[in-house]
Amino acid sequence: MQYKMVINGKRPLSGSVRAQGAKNAALPVLAASILLKGETLEIRRVPKLHDVFTMADLLRHLGAEVKYQNNTVKISVPDELAWDTPKALVRKMRASSLVLGPLLARTGRAVLPLPGGCAIGSRPIDLHLKGLAKLGADIQLEHGAVQARAKGLKGAKIYLDFPSVGATENIMMAAVFAKGETIIENAAREPEIVNLSEALKAMGCKIDGVGTGTIHLEGVDSLGGTAIDIIPDRIEASTFLLAGAITRGIVTVTGVIPEHLDAIIAKLEEAGIGLEIGEDTVTVKAEEPLKSVSLKTLPYPGFPTDVQPQFTAFMSTTKGTSVIQESVFESRFSHVSELKKMGAQIELQGNTAVVTGTDQLKGAEVRATDLRAGASLVLAGLAAEDETVVYGLGHIWRGYEGFDEKIRNLGGKVQVQLSDENGEPKW
Ligand code: UD1
Repeated sequence: MQYKMVINGKRPLSGSVRAQGAKNAALPVLAASILLKGETLEIRRVPKLHDVFTMADLLRHLGAEVKYQNNTVKISVPDELAWDTPKALVRKMRASSLVLGPLLARTGRAVLPLPGGCAIGSRPIDLHLKGLAKLGADIQLEHGAVQARAKGLKGAKIYLDFPSVGATENIMMAAVFAKGETIIENAAREPEIVNLSEALKAMGCKIDGVGTGTIHLEGVDSLGGTAIDIIPDRIEASTFLLAGAITRGIVTVTGVIPEHLDAIIAKLEEAGIGLEIGEDTVTVKAEEPLKSVSLKTLPYPGFPTDVQPQFTAFMSTTKGTSVIQESVFESRFSHVSELKKMGAQIELQGNTAVVTGTDQLKGAEVRATDLRAGASLVLAGLAAEDETVVYGLGHIWRGYEGFDEKIRNLGGKVQVQLSDENGEPKW
């Protein structure tokens, strides 16, 4: 079934919206359950998203029992687990690769067809594989799948060429039972990795230094079940702050950790947006005059690549010229051609978008080609005159729980409707 979102824009959003749990924290914490044996992991504030359902299906395939009640997931892991992962599930999302490390640590074997996910660059998993090999795993690529084997992993010093989020998480989970000490250098510092380490610690792992560039792990023999809360989704929260900004509205996002939003807050402030920061809330008050600002995406604590498309949409509406450099992914500008259909003035120069603001965005029919590109088109639609129709909603549902309902609660005019298009598959 195909769906489309119909948006009647040019209305300031106002009100408050509660942030969901972070998709990018929930996925690795779900994968970490694989490390348990005959134990249960309870995870609270898990967003109901397609990527989360895919991870749950992967865990079920491996033999775990996964129960979902509201936003709490309980995973009971049996003594015996399978070690193969089905292509149909793995191809649905890149984060499937997160089962590789824990599965190898737990069963000594893992087979992973090369994963799928958003079409934003080639996104290899070479750093994950190099790290696992350093821990002593035998890694082969056969018939389009990673075949990993290990007879007892050993702690090692691993330097990451780039602070990859997924590689840091996979290596952390793989090293949990490794003999001796593992050190990950140039590790990623994202808050979602800190959340994963909190879960691992609560299960009995010995980890230090997460959130800095150097992580120390000391292997343990076994782990126990526990309960853990997922942190607020800083990307979803940023999307709603930008929805307030682009519609020149007043929007409060609640249930957030403002510190995780520092890079976004700094850029909004620079653009002239009024901000109020509470203990766990952030409010944007957007009034003209606003101005264009330039930015470069970077690993945390830099400006997140996952907010670049939404910020690009916002910059399409501010006075002046903004230079937006994408340094994390090699091609993440699929939203640009669609934004241009709505009247945005954007020139692409390699991995840089030069955006000249206009107050004349106009509704159009556009297609989401990846998750955050989709969010940026919805934001542009909320700011544009007349009607915008966004196709490819499957991408958006990979990352936003109840997106249209949350926008309606802020006064936005959006409807999700069945689409009769013979479009491309969405997920
Ligand atoms: C995670 C997030 C994603 C976010 C990204 C960067 C999850 C589930 N997804 O993705 O939303 O956009 O972090 O903040 O948490 N790279 C390699 N080799 C590797 C691994 C990565 O070259 O082995 C490259 C990638 O192609 C990319 C860059 O490193 O250019 C960043 O990737 P990485 O940090 O690994 O992102 P993900 O973990 O895939």
